[in-house]
Amino acid sequence: MQSPIEYLEARREENLAGLMQFLRIPSVSTDPARREDVRAAARFLCDALLQAGLPRSEIVETPGHPIVFAEDLRAEGPTLLVYGHYDVQPEEPVELWTSPPFEPEVRDGELYARGAVDDKGQVWLHVKALEAWLHTTGRLPCKVKVVVEGEEEIGGSNLSAFLRERRDLLRADAVLISDSPMFERGVPSLCYGLRGMAYMEVTVRGAGSDLHSGSFGGAVANPAQALATILAGLKDGAHRVAIPGFYDRVREITAREREAFAALPFDADAYRRALGVPELVGEEGFSTLERVWARPTLEVNGLLAGFTGEGTKTVLPASAMAKVSMRLVPDQDWEEIARLFRSRVLELAPAGVVVDVRTHHGGKAFLTDIDHPALRAAARALERGFGSPPVMIREGGSIPVAVDFREELKLPVVLMGFGTPDENAHAPDEHLSLENFHGGLRTVSYFLEEFAACAPGS
Ligand code: BES
Ligand code: MN
Ligand code: MN
Repeated sequence: MQSPIEYLEARREENLAGLMQFLRIPSVSTDPARREDVRAAARFLCDALLQAGLPRSEIVETPGHPIVFAEDLRAEGPTLLVYGHYDVQPEEPVELWTSPPFEPEVRDGELYARGAVDDKGQVWLHVKALEAWLHTTGRLPCKVKVVVEGEEEIGGSNLSAFLRERRDLLRADAVLISDSPMFERGVPSLCYGLRGMAYMEVTVRGAGSDLHSGSFGGAVANPAQALATILAGLKDGAHRVAIPGFYDRVREITAREREAFAALPFDADAYRRALGVPELVGEEGFSTLERVWARPTLEVNGLLAGFTGEGTKTVLPASAMAKVSMRLVPDQDWEEIARLFRSRVLELAPAGVVVDVRTHHGGKAFLTDIDHPALRAAARALERGFGSPPVMIREGGSIPVAVDFREELKLPVVLMGFGTPDENAHAPDEHLSLENFHGGLRTVSYFLEEFAACAPGS
């Protein structure tokens, strides 16, 4: 009989072809015009899970985009809940892509497409690992539930509601998420922390319409400039967030963790060069890894104001807008941070404009115990799949639902991602290393076995 690993090796081409079909569906969750594409991606995945041999796979409707739920409870032993997302970020700016974002293409051992690494590629390897077990041994090593949502990239709250309302359906012993990068190419990693987030929007309004900047400039406040003043006041010269109370609940990094971060093979200059920046800057007194993984920050995500076309136009804009997100760490409370942000912005607002602050979404930071048996099982699986034991890392990105799994469902969460930091997630030319894709397939197959053997809760 073929082993699951032999099955996967023999079916490399088919597995990749299936993923490419999945990637062709432009499931951009933030774009209302793509609603049907998002649904088509859910259907595609739902069918793929049935074809993989899971006895139950269905589309769960929500007020927003649907959730795909599948399960196979025929095995003895503990239950693993696999979570991922099938929605993707917008492809803009599309002119910067080497090949079209929804026409997947392999170049130099990398698969290029929107969603290749975040997160369709990583969802796909779970589907195919399950298929490998079911098509060879006829059974899975443990019970498996699969939850894949379509609103991760928009901070949607429908999945949280689903988790709370369907506790029985989602009963499990651990959660496995593959939606994060490894520390570096060729360095298998287990992630035990993620930052939280508060996503805000600031609008500044002046006159009822744009004005001739000659006729009116000097007589009224300029909303674009007022917004710049506000944004400039949100950080100080030492790159600290200048919002009173912002750091009050920040849990300091322990000496042990600082040592562990410092022991990782991180080359700050190579990192700087890879990013193409003249210098790395950030909060004083912290290393780059500390800044990104374990310190909060505030970042302007987008700015809109006035005339930005070719040439010139003398205009005093009627309004200006900024999207600002804050990455949070334990034990910051995102709703409190959103309130503090709001007060600070209103306090910084110069005379002559009206300022409006809106909260889009938010979530808490995630931090888990690295000694849990499920994480140890993951470490063994990574070692078998990639040939070396994983390094323990935190990440700066956010998966808000990881906190819900941990705190609402009281489940251990294993973050075992197969991306790499240089794969352009959310950016043009997003790609996925095929070597990692195959390594990830092997690792996930081994994990099912290791998890069954470590048997938490069985
Ligand atoms: N896969 C990422 C999360 C991630 C990124 C984890 C980098 C670890 C490292 C996820 O799809 C994502 O982009 N999340 C958003 C969440 C937000 C919209 C609430 C993020 O981090 O910006
Ligand atoms: Mn993701
Ligand atoms: Mn993402």
